[in-house]
Amino acid sequence: MKNYELRDKITNIVNNTQSVDKKLQNICDLLRNNVSYYHWVGFYFKNGEMPELKLAQYSGKPTEHIIIPFGKGICGQVALSNVNFVVQDVTEQENYISCGFNVKSEIVIPIFKNGVNIGQIDIDSHEKSPFTKNDEELLEFICEQVSKII
Ligand code: SME
Repeated sequence: MKNYELRDKITNIVNNTQSVDKKLQNICDLLRNNVSYYHWVGFYFKNGEMPELKLAQYSGKPTEHIIIPFGKGICGQVALSNVNFVVQDVTEQENYISCGFNVKSEIVIPIFKNGVNIGQIDIDSHEKSPFTKNDEELLEFICEQVSKII
């Protein structure tokens, strides 16, 4: 599916009358089912006042990494850095939490609410070096949309 079609579908999901949980689930499913190299798609959000992330909705294989402390792994680093983290080859990252031997790359984009980093979208791929600027732009758009409903 083309990027603009995905954006249209995301806008429809965000603007419909379903619960926030259902909308986030639909976004995860839409992305995993329509982008061939997105094998796991999930949202992590700050866990209350704790310096850690908690897994919310996701699409793909269940993970044991429900809670991720700030600073740990790719996700925990983005919670502190506030910037996109594109990892084209996870074997090159020392501070990485593995979610399975078949994951080769990962992209994490932060979600901001009123300028505060409140969570992120995290995508794992079984391909090496699949991500381009298009992915970052699409996912930034999605994070902005999600920010409106959180
Ligand atoms: N690989 C992540 C952990 C979360 S899983 O990808 C679902 C990380 O290094 O933070």
